[in-house]
Amino acid sequence: MSKQRVLSGIQPSGKLTLGNYIGAMINYVALQHEHDCYYMIVDLHAITVPQEPAALREQSEAVAALFVAVGLDPAKAAIFLQSHVRAHAELGWIMTTLSYMGELERMTQFKDKAAGKDAVGAGLFTYPALMAADILLYKTKLVPVGEDQKQHLELTRDLAGRFNHRFGETLVVPEPFIPKVGARIMSLDDATKKMSKSNPNPGSYIALLDSPDDIRKKISRAKTDLGREIVFDPAEKPEISNLMSIFSQCTGKSLDEIQKDYEGQGYGTFKKDVAEAVVSVLEPIQRKYADIRASGEIHRILKDGAERASAVAETTVREVKEAMGFVLPARD
Ligand code: TYM
Repeated sequence: MSKQRVLSGIQPSGKLTLGNYIGAMINYVALQHEHDCYYMIVDLHAITVPQEPAALREQSEAVAALFVAVGLDPAKAAIFLQSHVRAHAELGWIMTTLSYMGELERMTQFKDKAAGKDAVGAGLFTYPALMAADILLYKTKLVPVGEDQKQHLELTRDLAGRFNHRFGETLVVPEPFIPKVGARIMSLDDATKKMSKSNPNPGSYIALLDSPDDIRKKISRAKTDLGREIVFDPAEKPEISNLMSIFSQCTGKSLDEIQKDYEGQGYGTFKKDVAEAVVSVLEPIQRKYADIRASGEIHRILKDGAERASAVAETTVREVKEAMGFVLPARD
């Protein structure tokens, strides 16, 4: 594959989970070696639901440190906060004006988040237009994400096409880059729901900063299907299939290999091995995370990342505004 522009983002709203890591971050790290990568902490997206200021600040820095801890190299990939690059808010507004109410109403993530609430913020509704702007600003080709973001990516593709059709070829139509195994890591207590940091039961998810003992406990208590065979069959055996996906991504073993290795062995042995595999992936990440937080280096990394990102994003916004007929400010 030739060198491509890559962009993705994670919300700083609560602890990151093993789902974020397997569905998205493993690919962030893999892509940085060959491609031109931009990874951001989407703080402007986080405020589409109420955030406590101190918590937003802490979590934004924590996610930035986790980006480095999982193996992103700030010399290769630009790591930055969305709010540091003003072009996001600017193109976000432009994309909002290009979006139709009907297409935003169809977004399943909006429907899920708005369900049962009396007051739903307008920002939650227009969120996918801001996400489209995030991607289109960088003329992004590949967007590493988990399965749940696919529909937002489709909308982004539609908006890019609509813009180009109306105003001339300006934006690049992006593609989702979704892992073959682990695109949707499920909750440990209910394999019909995706693993999520917003689940009120902490036993349902593994946070990247959970202690090894907590990880062992959570996996040993994870719900399992009837029977005792370790076979990958998401329809009939969703819980064990979920643990197999986790194990596969933490060890590099294929699902077939795992199935063969555990033939005739029960869930107990398998769960112990899954727990140890997760611990051995997360322990070094946690050590590195502690070092980065202690070093205070994260502010410099974010400043440098925002400068690199702004240079690209500002150019695109200028092109977009020019194509649309805005009078551009004179350059000195
Ligand atoms: P967010 O913060 O909910 O999740 C970040 C990334 O983690 C993936 N993910 C999962 N993958 C597999 N299994 C799971 N259980 C799981 N949970 C989360 C998500 O698919 C995502 O890739 N709207 C985005 C943030 C965003 C963005 C962007 C992403 C804003 N602008 C531009 C890409 C490009 C979101 O809320 O992700």
